[in-house]
Amino acid sequence: MNHNRIRLVKTAFLTMILFGLGGLAYASGSHEGGHNKKAAMSHWSSPPEALKQVNPVAADSVSISSGEKIYAQLCAGCHGKSADGNGPAAASLSRKPTNLRAMSGGHADGDFAWKISNGRGDMPAWEEELDRTEIWHLVNYIQSLSSHGGTSHMHQNKGHGSKSDSHQD
Ligand code: HEC
Repeated sequence: MNHNRIRLVKTAFLTMILFGLGGLAYASGSHEGGHNKKAAMSHWSSPPEALKQVNPVAADSVSISSGEKIYAQLCAGCHGKSADGNGPAAASLSRKPTNLRAMSGGHADGDFAWKISNGRGDMPAWEEELDRTEIWHLVNYIQSLSSHGGTSHMHQNKGHGSKSDSHQD
């Protein structure tokens, strides 16, 4: 009985030390002066493994329009109908929903897929709600926004996914 308690106290103590060290390492590793506030405001990055995910769904018109439909239902309320981050719910959030039109083409498919799956803060995690294919449709839709976003001189195909991959239905 008593032994267990001592053990517990020891464990708690060790945990505190470990956390303390972790905090120190974190602060000294930061190049921005170690302000937590600043770290929280920085742009959201997904873990490196997420970037390696290959989009198995070809970004054809069928996939893009499937993504667009899901987007209109689940995402437009916050991110806006035109994906500019100004949906009706945006004003009530502590953090503005990302302008996905501006973000389009700026991140890897796997990065968007990971963020949509896992969420952060006011951005919900969708991995339970949507299946993987639906998430890739959304990614394809988001990536398509930059190609008809008014910059007509940028008409190149971004070549999402890989050529050897076929449809996965
Ligand atoms: C309740 C409001 C809300 C809903 C609904 C919502 N989002 Fe978000 N989303 C956010 C907010 C807020 C952020 C910014 C999060 C941050 O940076 O901490 C965000 C960020 C993102 C990002 C990250 C962009 C980047 O690279 O920084 C993606 C991608 C995204 N949302 C896609 C979606 C998709 C797709 C849906 C629908 C399935 C969706 N969101 C639904 C609020 C929402």
